[in-house]
Amino acid sequence: MQPLKTSKTYDMPLYMQVYRRYRETIASGKLRPGDRVPSVRNLASELNLSRGTVEMAYQMLSSEGYFLSRGPAGTVVSPRLKTLHEAEIPPVSGPLSSITSPRASETGSVRPLQLGLPALDMFPRKTWARLAGHNLRSLEAITMAYPAPTGYEPLRRAIAAYLGISRGIACTHEQVFITAGYQGALELVCRTLLQPGDTGWYEDPGYLLARHFLERAGMLLEPVPVDEEGLNVDIGQQRAARARFAVVTPTHQSPMGMALSLPRRLQLLEWASHRQAWIIEDDYDSEFRYHGRPLPALKSLDREQRVLYTGTFSKVLFPGLRLAYLVVPYSQVERFADAAKYLCGPGTVQTQATVADFMEQGHFARHLRRMRALYATRREYLVNALQEKCGSALNIQPQAGGIHVLARLTTDASDRALAAAAQSHGLAIQALNDWQRGRSLQGGLLMGFANVTSAKMASDLVNRLVSATGLT
Ligand SMILES: Cc1ncc(COP(=O)(O)O)c(C=O)c1O
Repeated sequence: MQPLKTSKTYDMPLYMQVYRRYRETIASGKLRPGDRVPSVRNLASELNLSRGTVEMAYQMLSSEGYFLSRGPAGTVVSPRLKTLHEAEIPPVSGPLSSITSPRASETGSVRPLQLGLPALDMFPRKTWARLAGHNLRSLEAITMAYPAPTGYEPLRRAIAAYLGISRGIACTHEQVFITAGYQGALELVCRTLLQPGDTGWYEDPGYLLARHFLERAGMLLEPVPVDEEGLNVDIGQQRAARARFAVVTPTHQSPMGMALSLPRRLQLLEWASHRQAWIIEDDYDSEFRYHGRPLPALKSLDREQRVLYTGTFSKVLFPGLRLAYLVVPYSQVERFADAAKYLCGPGTVQTQATVADFMEQGHFARHLRRMRALYATRREYLVNALQEKCGSALNIQPQAGGIHVLARLTTDASDRALAAAAQSHGLAIQALNDWQRGRSLQGGLLMGFANVTSAKMASDLVNRLVSATGLT
């Protein structure tokens, strides 16, 4: 928290000022349940007060349930405290209860039904903290020196091993580049293989953020429609046969959810090899599949080495890490390594080392297994609530994987207007047509379900959707 300032000129006794400042800070959400507060001694010295004064304020705060003393582990804001925000918004269990606070929604960081966010409440925090703590304490020279622009080698090795087993991709660790999120991977591709003004196929509808990123990088994107088999390669060839690249989400099309069919995969690879074009495969959430095994990556069929494969830790761990990876053809490793030297790279080595340990020690595989089962349940909560309360207005498309639901409108109502109404009620629902560039589609609403922790929460959220939009 901000340093607490007390003035001896106030009428109120000093211990009361300290007491009130804490109460206000907690009520405003600046201090949250579980947050640590300074020790009596530290605060007294910071504010130039006697210890007795601070102690009296702390005792009042503890006796009223605001603070909880944990002995030698210090004093925290009581985790049992119900803040105003929690009463308003369905809570996420554990220390995350504050993430759905209005404050968070203002900054857009974490909101109910937000797309692309994994189940933050179920992340194995203790294991993570243990591994991170170990890395911090041991502070090996390799984690203190300048980081390799291509990424921390043990992490590159762990990813290469994981991709071989789970995604059918045969690659060496030299081909794996660690990047700052998917955007970092796209930036590396743009700086290494593409030029501003290059044309690329982009799925329509397709992932909004990457589309904007590529456009800002000067790429000319040709929208190529997707149908039930995924990207329509024939149309891509008719519209821009000479494109330099194509960006695809073959395992789980974003946002429609279908897989790119095998004939289309082969057709796309053939086009790329014939035209010497690059395919950027965005394999963002393939780990979560609820029927059958994850499909092998397009990259696993890439005999001519035209595919640049990207994966991210945002869904399988958490997006705050800002870690993703790019696998490049062996023949391109040197060019990529050279370009990587002049970019920001993937950030601190400590974090990469923790991810590497998490993978090597088997926690990653265990976490994925647990999350698959959990997401199947959470998806059902949301789908059931939507079907029960808005079954005639929405047609929920069964998707084999991922962490979002697409609910198509059964009428020609504007999905943009409905999403705007839902957003004004604090729900982070998005309109399908905002992800679309060509002619407008029959509308749809996109919702993330990973943080819907119970049937009751799903029901409350859908009630809120109904009251915001009038959908039934
Ligand atoms: C289609 C798609 N690709 C990639 C990503 C991953 O992006 P990042 O690694 O920057 O979090 C996302 C995240 O939501 C996504 O939806």
